[in-house]
Amino acid sequence: MMSFRDWMEACVREYYKSDFRRDFFTAPELDRAFGYSLAYFIAQLVKDYEKPILFELGGGSGALAYDILTYLWEKEPHIYKRVSYYIYDFSPRLIEIQRERLKSFRDKVFWTDRLFPMKGVIFSNEFFDCLPVHVIKEGKELFIEGDKEVWKETSNPKIMEVIQRMGYENLQQVIEICLDCIEFLKGIGENLKKGYHLVIDYGYTTEEIERFPQGTVVGYKSHKVYSKPSEGMDITAYVNFSLLEEYGKDFGLQKVDCLRLSRFLMKNPIFMEELEKLSKSKKAEDIERLSRLKTLLISMGERFRVLIQKKL
Ligand SMILES: C[S@@+](CC[C@H](N)C(=O)[O-])C[C@H]1O[C@@H](n2cnc3c(N)ncnc32)[C@H](O)[C@@H]1O
Repeated sequence: MMSFRDWMEACVREYYKSDFRRDFFTAPELDRAFGYSLAYFIAQLVKDYEKPILFELGGGSGALAYDILTYLWEKEPHIYKRVSYYIYDFSPRLIEIQRERLKSFRDKVFWTDRLFPMKGVIFSNEFFDCLPVHVIKEGKELFIEGDKEVWKETSNPKIMEVIQRMGYENLQQVIEICLDCIEFLKGIGENLKKGYHLVIDYGYTTEEIERFPQGTVVGYKSHKVYSKPSEGMDITAYVNFSLLEEYGKDFGLQKVDCLRLSRFLMKNPIFMEELEKLSKSKKAEDIERLSRLKTLLISMGERFRVLIQKKL
């Protein structure tokens, strides 16, 4: 018998170890406007840094790194010259794909298996949702035995501490506690000597938690979502943004903003210029891209949030 957390961790590792399948598209894979907009935002944050480091957690196919570096190279050559781009990823298969995709930026991109002391921006898109969660309901924790689900009294004091600190003791529903998210925040807070931490992901805040009475864990396979995940699927849980905000404080990460992706993109001049340009065009390719930008703004834009934390 193993806790759901350990089972989820094993499934996610296995999933990313296996051949890269396209069971879902992420924002950077949808359209370059996402990476270009993020690059513009990051450039404003680091423009006065001497040698800023851009550190991406979970590089996927390398699409986000490619678009960020392309944008900086084309539009912000003075910043491009000074940056180094690091990717942290546990999937050897994806690292291979990233290396191939980023061949033209060979002198700029590095791979690392740990965080290290740095100044710049640590950021991720759809990384925190991959981190395993403990599944809890009214003091009991979910365990997996074969294909059976078993609920046992929670004995882990760390989980109880988080439940109390977040004010979840009286919730009569499934809740997910991501101790791994807190561990990552700790590493980020300790290593980021000066700069910003950005999390882009789908998620919820404490005020919204009751909208998910059965919790938020799902499995993805062949572009379908399964509420009962099983091995061989990518298993994810919505990110608890209130928890990231609350625990970030312990590690010196002060919240600057937490907003929906749609709002983040609408405030971004690069995204808005692209949207305007495409909406005036009659070319088939542009019409197709316009529809992808609308997906970024509407369906993803409403589900995803952007958390910006600062370390002074
Ligand atoms: C859903 S993909 C997102 C990829 C990319 N950020 C994007 O938006 O296209 C998640 C990425 O995080 C990596 N990943 C997931 N869990 C991880 C962990 N615990 N440690 C390191 N990398 C992890 C996966 O290998 C994969 O590259």
